[in-house]
Amino acid sequence: MCGIICYVGKDKVKPILLEGLKRLEYRGYDSAGMAVQFGGGVELYRAVGKIIELEKKVQDVELPGTCGIAHTRWATHGEPSEENAHPHRDQAENVFVIHNGIIENYHPIRKRLEKSGVRFRSQTDTEVLAHLIALSFDGDLSEAVRKTMSQIEGTFGIAVIHRQRPNEIVIARRGSPLIIGVGDGGNFAASDVSAMVRYTNQVVHLNDNELALLTADGYSISTAQAKSVTRVAETVEWQAEDAELNGFPHFMLKEIYEQPDTLLNAIRGRLEPGEGVPKLGGIIPVWERLKDCRHLVIVACGTSYYAGCVGRYVFERLTEIDVEVEIASEFRYRKLNFPPNTFIIAISQSGETADTLAAIREARRKGAQLLGIVNVVGSSISRETLAGVYCHAGPEIGVASTKIFVSQLTILTLLALLLGRHQNLSLTEGVEAIQALSALPDQIKKVLSYDNHIQAIAEKYYRCSNWLFLGRKYQYPIAQEGALKLKEISYIHAEGYAAGEMKHGPIALISPAMPTVALAPRDSMYEKMISNIQEIKSRKGPVIAIVTEGDEKVRELADEIIEVPPTLEYLYPILTVVPCQLISYYCARFLNRDIDKPRNLAKSVTVE
Ligand code: M6R
Repeated sequence: MCGIICYVGKDKVKPILLEGLKRLEYRGYDSAGMAVQFGGGVELYRAVGKIIELEKKVQDVELPGTCGIAHTRWATHGEPSEENAHPHRDQAENVFVIHNGIIENYHPIRKRLEKSGVRFRSQTDTEVLAHLIALSFDGDLSEAVRKTMSQIEGTFGIAVIHRQRPNEIVIARRGSPLIIGVGDGGNFAASDVSAMVRYTNQVVHLNDNELALLTADGYSISTAQAKSVTRVAETVEWQAEDAELNGFPHFMLKEIYEQPDTLLNAIRGRLEPGEGVPKLGGIIPVWERLKDCRHLVIVACGTSYYAGCVGRYVFERLTEIDVEVEIASEFRYRKLNFPPNTFIIAISQSGETADTLAAIREARRKGAQLLGIVNVVGSSISRETLAGVYCHAGPEIGVASTKIFVSQLTILTLLALLLGRHQNLSLTEGVEAIQALSALPDQIKKVLSYDNHIQAIAEKYYRCSNWLFLGRKYQYPIAQEGALKLKEISYIHAEGYAAGEMKHGPIALISPAMPTVALAPRDSMYEKMISNIQEIKSRKGPVIAIVTEGDEKVRELADEIIEVPPTLEYLYPILTVVPCQLISYYCARFLNRDIDKPRNLAKSVTVE
């Protein structure tokens, strides 16, 4: 999705903007641009393709300006082209604006402006903003932006500069994240903390329908109704190195390898081993109501949704609570009728996914209470929920979600365990769960030590253009997640199925050209999975089986075996997903795919 980085201060802005744009690359984009105030004017540079194309355009240009705005665009209205890339400008080239989101009423506004003689240069919805702000401007840029905000419908995070207002940037938001970075000698604005984390860890989140004026010396926030707002900066825990490769060829591999630490960070300070109870400070505000909850709905998208699907089984195992899991984009179309004291859990890495946000807003309207499991501190979902639990996993840069999935599974387990222990779950089971959770980081390390073996398996099969992933119960969502990973980064077609459904259709696909990844750890579904593997082998389908260490039965049947250490049935997903991630990663690598930035995808999907 689109990305924003802006700076005003004492340092030259060009390298800051380029650095910020590179750090936003992971969000997915097709063109980029920047506008820099300089010598009483504004210089505009834009390019289609990678940031390097923009960099080539500006590398030999002497740009001493210290105030500018920059953007990565992910096309929605109009093809990826230089004219459609941001920043956009008004006719007189006074106003320069960058925008994340969608202006829903841009069409009638454009018609009206065209009728009055305004000439448009692009096909974008964004360009109307530049013209409207120019028309409203009478010396005060914040006021012009405020007036424009009242005329537009849709979602936006915008940053604006004006030729006649040197060293001022006005930003505004409705629905698209914008964060102010408070620096030493200058201030930043960005759609994503990682764009400015090299320069500052002091951030201020802008709320919907607020705008802010940034200068080199400070920032002032006000509402769309011109009421001034006081908000002090918070410290973010992310470090610049978190968003660097540190010797790994791809962020995805780095993040797969970070999973033992991710899991440790998710449980650190949250376990009371003797009591068999986790401590989750983030849910204290709702605990009195939550502990009596009997109906829970989990909403999420993509990988976060599959975490929720595993979570349903875990809650059913450890608590007395009825759990539903819904794809956020579909949830809104349901006729929602919640029993009293229903809680909704929104799961989201970014905390900005538009469908998940829309789902929780609808649920709130219908009387449900909202919790969040979110990685990005201060993100929209974290602020719109009553309470929740942070993943504390650091930034996830690879578009394919890996370490956050493990973190989400861990936190769902902690939450279920906490509620279960206040319901019927025994001390023995609580203690056993905590011991097993604490052993997982080392067990993930063990799975990672099979990296070469998994790479060799991927090398053998990566040319197969159709794959099947099969699992039952806790392993069914892992089959779906495994198939999603393979699809999104290698572009190989893959299906994730409940193994019991095989006979109802997919078995027709089995052939020597179609590998099946069978998730068959030693759990309550083990014998049934063996039957499925036999069915595939009798039809000459190659089987890559993920099994518990020492399994001899499956070894005799399957073509390839990947072992995971033994754990509790409901914790196996945290181990079995790791080989699935590595299989996808290596298939994509053998196919020379753009692993961290797969085609057509964005890290944070902020449009519906
Ligand atoms: O930020 P979120 O967790 O809300 O994102 C949800 C999905 O867009 C995300 O998990 C997506 O499916 C990933 N690319 C999967 O690897």
